[in-house]
Amino acid sequence: MRLKIVEKRQVAKDTYVLKVENPALFDILPGQFFMIRINDFNYPLLRRPLSVAGFSNTIDFIFKVVGEGTKILSLKKEGEFIDFLGSFGNGFTINSSKRLVLIGGGIGVAPLLYLKDTIENGYKLKCESYFGFNTKSEVFTSSGNVSTMDGSLGFKGTAVEMIQGDLDKNSLIYACGPLPMLKKLALLCFEYGCEMQVSLEARMACGIGVCLGCVVPTVNGDFKRVCVEGPVFDYEEIQWQEM
Ligand SMILES: Cc1cc2nc3c(=O)[nH]c(=O)nc-3n(C[C@H](O)[C@H](O)[C@H](O)COP(=O)(O)OP(=O)(O)OC[C@H]3O[C@@H](n4cnc5c(N)ncnc54)[C@H](O)[C@@H]3O)c2cc1C
Ligand code: FES
Repeated sequence: MRLKIVEKRQVAKDTYVLKVENPALFDILPGQFFMIRINDFNYPLLRRPLSVAGFSNTIDFIFKVVGEGTKILSLKKEGEFIDFLGSFGNGFTINSSKRLVLIGGGIGVAPLLYLKDTIENGYKLKCESYFGFNTKSEVFTSSGNVSTMDGSLGFKGTAVEMIQGDLDKNSLIYACGPLPMLKKLALLCFEYGCEMQVSLEARMACGIGVCLGCVVPTVNGDFKRVCVEGPVFDYEEIQWQEM
């Protein structure tokens, strides 16, 4: 599916928002992602996964430049077309009887912005959000409670440190971010008895469950594919020590 870029702009250090026309062919759950073909020719060969950060009359993505593919994407211009495959993955499940707590780190905040919008404006429910970044120049949202490691904006410390003393059994955490953050949250959930749906990242080649390049270990001793069975998992399914 080739979609036209409606808007592309830098929103923070090495971080861009990309909005493409919404063909209105489908609904997209928060947490789902698209596989994006970076160029019309075969370099880079593999498509790159990006989560949906917003969905209205445009489909919005927020991405960080980390390598060749995202660098090329950052140079695209409004009016150009990009080839998208998707949407893929399972997405987050909303439970209205719980205290909904969104915790994101760095670029992992991107899919949580769409989740927040869905909870508040779709379901008309309340949620709390805690979004952590390294430093002010990397912050790309004014939504929710923001922290920075160096204290240059908001709370000084991690997103987890902002909320950890205040979690309880009724909390349902939605998390996305760096692995150490997710591991720390898994420990806290175990300690406080709260639930957590966690969106995991993995290197992906096919995005459709065929190559097995994206598997993660589970507590049952088997593996699950992030692209098909995920990217959102119940934290209790994951064998965190082997991650
Ligand atoms: C389901 C899913 C959703 C994602 N959503 C977003 C998003 O919304 N915004 C965003 O900025 N990024 C997102 N990513 C990560 C994004 O796909 C990678 O950053 C991108 O593919 C890197 O491509 P590249 O060619 O620029 O870098 P490469 O040249 O391929 O790699 C550069 C560096 O980044 C590391 N890297 C690349 N891909 C990943 C990955 N998937 N996980 C961990 N490390 C990686 C490599 O190990 C290497 O060190 C998502 C990944 C997944 C699996
Ligand atoms: S990316 Fe190929 S199986 Fe998941």
